This record gives sequence, C-alpha cells and structure tokens, in this order.
Amino acid sequence: MTSPSALWQFSLNYGHALIWGGSLLFLMIMAVSFLTTRQLALLTTVITFGLVVLGAYVRLSDAGLGCPDWPGCYGALSPEHAKSDITAAQSLAPDGPVSLPKAWKEMVHRYTASLVGALIVALLFRVLLNRRRLRDLGAPECRIGLPLLLLGVVVLQGLFGKWTVTLKLYPAVVTGHLLGGLLLLFLLTLYTMSQFRVRATTPTLRPAALFALLLVVTQITLGGWVSTNHAAPACGELPLCQQQLLPPMEFAEAFQINRALGQNASGQPLSLQALTAIHWAHRMFALVVFVFLCATVLKLLRSPGLRLIGLGIGLVLLIQITLGLTVVYAMSSSHLHLDWQLPIAAAHNAGAALLLALLTMLNYRAFAKA
Ligand code: HEM
Ligand code: HEM
Repeated sequence: MTSPSALWQFSLNYGHALIWGGSLLFLMIMAVSFLTTRQLALLTTVITFGLVVLGAYVRLSDAGLGCPDWPGCYGALSPEHAKSDITAAQSLAPDGPVSLPKAWKEMVHRYTASLVGALIVALLFRVLLNRRRLRDLGAPECRIGLPLLLLGVVVLQGLFGKWTVTLKLYPAVVTGHLLGGLLLLFLLTLYTMSQFRVRATTPTLRPAALFALLLVVTQITLGGWVSTNHAAPACGELPLCQQQLLPPMEFAEAFQINRALGQNASGQPLSLQALTAIHWAHRMFALVVFVFLCATVLKLLRSPGLRLIGLGIGLVLLIQITLGLTVVYAMSSSHLHLDWQLPIAAAHNAGAALLLALLTMLNYRAFAKA
C-alpha cells in the first residue's frame, strides 16, 4: 500500500529549516519568559481549538495536497518560495489538488501546528522550572505526567499530519489525524482545568458524564469517517436517505479500515451502498447522542453549580445537530449558495470540538477530588 519513502520523506532545505526552527525557538523563549503556566495552558488550548477547525477548513476546501511533500512545500519554507513548482504542477492539472491558494491554506495549517508544538514544549519547560522552584522551597512537587503526555501526542499528531499528505489522504490516517487533534484538545482542556481552582461535583454524576463523553467521541469518529470518505452526498435528502428509511447498505465494506481513498480493500471503487452505510450510521448515532445528552443536560440543570455547563452543553448540542442537518440541506438544495457549504461544514467540526471540550470540563469536575 505504501512505499517506504512516503513514510520517511523529509523535504526542506537547510536554510529554510533554520529559519523555521529559529522562529519557533524564539517563540518558545518568549512564552516561557512572559507567561505563567496557567496562561500558557489556556493559550495553547485556544490555539489548538483554532487549529482543529483550520484543519477541517483545509480538508473541506480540498487543499490537503496543496503541498504534496513534508514538512516543506516543494522543499521550501512557503508557497511563495515554491511558486514556480506550484505553477508547473497546476499547468499540468488545472483542476488538480495543487494551486497557490490551496498551498497557502495547507502551509498556514502546518505553521499553526508548529506553533502549538512549540507552546507545548514551552509548557513543559515552565512546569520543570516550577518543579525546581517548589523543590527548593520544600513544597510538594507539581506533576509532570500530563505535559509529557502532551508532548508525545503532539509529536505523533505531527507525524499523522505528515502521513496525511505523503500517503495521499488515506482515510484511516485522516480520521486518525482528526481524532489525534481532538485528543490533544481533550488533554489540554484537562490540563487547563487543573490550573484553576475547580469545585468537584457529586460522584453520582460520574457514569453519565463519562458515558456522554464516550458517545460524543464515537459520533466524532463516525463523522470523521463520513467526511474523509466523501460520503456526505450518499444521503442527499432529509429526513430519509434515497427516499427510504432503510436504504440498501453494505456495512462490512463501509467500515473496512485498511484501504485507499475511494476504494475498497480489493482496490475496486467503493460502492454506493458502502458510502450510504457510512453516512447513515453517523445520522442514526446522532439520535442516540441527542437523546442521552438531553437527559444528561436535564440532570445538570437540576444540580446546583452545574447549570451553566448544562446550559452550554445543551446549546452546543442543538446548534451541532442543526449544523449537521444544514450540511445535508445545503448539499441537496439550491437555496443555499455553494459558498455557504464550506463554512457550515467547518462550523460542524467546530461544534464537535466545543462539545468535546465542554464534556471534558464536566468529566474533570465529576472526577475531581472534593
Ligand atoms: C498539533 C498538530 C496538528 C493538529 C491538532 C491538526 C489537526 C487537524 C485536523 C483536526 C484536521 C481535520 C481533519 C478532518 O477534518 O477530518 C486536519 C487536517 C489536515 N492536516 Fe493537520 N493537524 C496538525 C498537524 C499537521 C501537520 C504537521 C501537517 C503536515 C503536513 C498536517 C496536515 C494536514 C492536512 C493535509 C489536512 C487535510 C486532510 C485532508 O485534506 O483530508 N496537520 N489537521
Ligand atoms: C452530536 C451530534 C453530531 C456530532 C458530534 C457530529 C460530528 C461530526 C464530525 C466531527 C464530523 C467530521 C468533520 C470533519 O471531518 O471535519 C461530521 C461530519 C458530518 N456530519 Fe456530523 N455530527 C453530529 C450530528 C450530525 C447530524 C444530525 C447530521 C445530519 C443528519 C450530520 C451530518 C454530517 C455530515 C453530512 C458530515 C460530513 C460533512 C462533509 O464532509 O462535508 N451530523 N460530523
């Protein structure tokens, strides 16, 4: 399926690598010098949220292969430096994946990802400095486990970003990259929460909070599978799919992980029945998520101190379901201009990330020691 060069490829000339690395080092030093651990954690979480949505925007605007190599763009620091290569590729395939605007979208995503990586390294340094200071004062040590885990996840996520490109949008890799981005957001939200004085909730809420988080993670995975397989148009109407409640579907083919984009495991084009199953599963599971989260929200609204987070989850859930329905409506109708489809689908990704962050906060409070 893959050539070793696609896995190990590295393309950036030394001068440009020095500028890129030097800028990140400068940003890291500034962050460690001027920001507290709490500010650093909050800033990194907010930028990571933006990066996740930016990633979806890159994917939805078909700009994922805007620069077909890694980490540079045709071996250079920016699309401006690679202009002649980009123009040559575009003249060979005018409707292909390479153009200057697409290359810029892809590279801005990579620069922002490097910034997140640099901020996580800065966070680790900050925690190490605090640890030394606290040890000198004889105070209890502050924990380093989570910042170390964050470093590991961001490195892995960078590698998945690379393979997203070099393995030409292999669906399992792109979905893994989406989940890696959301795992990073989950861990950063936990770490940021740990930097604030948070009131614990009653332990009776633990099972509901954890189950709600698991349901949303499953729904996000199903959503990522819809988008990375381009299965959205397979059910182009609402509330039915191909005018039926139960259209013809092929689940085994749909959920085969190890296959290239648009193909089944034997290299044949993915069937309409498989695409339908991918889309249908995401729609139906949305019902399960909706019912369970509504029940959880009602519980939260009755618990003192948790009304605000309950309201937040309820509101984002309603917006998220509306956005999902609008994505399908926008595809199937001529009422919404094409220009609207992309921001709506990107907002659907942002809604998922926000829902995940809110449920992470709820779980932190549910599992925090009183
Ligand atoms: C902290 C690091 C990173 C995070 C959190 C992140 C996050 C994301 C997310 C959430 C998506 C959307 C996936 C989807 O909608 O299904 C995405 C897309 C993408 N990312 Fe990243 N990313 C990171 C690093 C990188 C790096 C280093 C590259 C380097 C090449 C990269 C390349 C891409 C590409 C090409 C896409 C579009 C995939 C497509 O067109 O299907 N990412 N990213
Ligand atoms: C809590 C409910 C929901 C969550 C958490 C959720 C989450 C997601 C996520 C994470 C994606 C992938 C976005 C990306 O790759 O960037 C997605 C895609 C999608 N979702 Fe949902 N979704 C929900 C409900 C719905 C509903 C009710 C519908 C419509 C009936 C829907 C229709 C779609 C479609 C059509 C896509 C593919 C978009 C594209 O590729 O252009 N979703 N969803």
